[in-house]
Amino acid sequence: MPDSIPQRFSDLAALRRSVAAWRQAGERVVLVPTMGALHAGHLALVAEARRIGRRTVASIFVNPTQFGPNEDFSRYPRDLETDLGLLGRAGADAAWTPAVGTMYPPGFATRIEVAGLTEGLCGPFRPGHFSGVATVVTKLLNQVRPDVALFGEKDFQQLRVIQQAVSDLDLDVEIRGVPTVREPDGLALSSRNRYLSATERAVAPNLHGVLTEIAAAARGGAAVAGPINAGQAALEAAGFQVQYLAVCDARTLAPVERVAGPARVLVAAFLGRTRLIDNLAV
Ligand code: PAF
Repeated sequence: MPDSIPQRFSDLAALRRSVAAWRQAGERVVLVPTMGALHAGHLALVAEARRIGRRTVASIFVNPTQFGPNEDFSRYPRDLETDLGLLGRAGADAAWTPAVGTMYPPGFATRIEVAGLTEGLCGPFRPGHFSGVATVVTKLLNQVRPDVALFGEKDFQQLRVIQQAVSDLDLDVEIRGVPTVREPDGLALSSRNRYLSATERAVAPNLHGVLTEIAAAARGGAAVAGPINAGQAALEAAGFQVQYLAVCDARTLAPVERVAGPARVLVAAFLGRTRLIDNLAV
């Protein structure tokens, strides 16, 4: 395992010079966009980046425009030194750590809106969130100019929104999803898991349990309404406040009544003050 601090860039021109030199040398560059607070899920993205490319750039930027006014932007965990150490051990070559003023200088006026895919699931509960994500990711892709960019499947709607934006805007980059990394008890890794109290942490794996049951029930083409109602009741009895629990077409994210092609079961629920999301392939 390599163990060196990745080269850190906060200056866009310097980052571009390095990446341009790699590309000129014929080296395939892979970007792993993150908001820091790195965990094993992010490190799996870095490992995949190293497997498929020659150079790995991880970006660390807590993007203010994807947080709503009552969301956790100010308390979102930030620990750059630890993150750089983890990236070094994982073998990333570079860390792109722009300041807010570099990403959004005074007068910044553009936003990218992806219709359709953002209208359901997290969309209504987080107005402006996906526009903030699509805008910042488009900027990161233009700044780094990677051959491939990797995103965790845990944020499945985000992955689909980014794929749509990249396709619609003819961005010359391949977007790939990487399977969710889970704790042994099934809880999907998330930087927000550190907000959970010990009691909430013990309850949190129920989310994965319910998704697994619904996916199994839906797989044979049976109606999904019954399993979804039972799953929602089980989560609420365990102390969750469910925002949505749905089986959706994996491409369009439109809810389906029965599974006839690639589908995904997706959930968002609050446990205390912490909002958790998860999903599984059906
Ligand atoms: O998934 C995340 O961590 C963020 O939404 C991303 C893709 C880095 C954009 O800020």
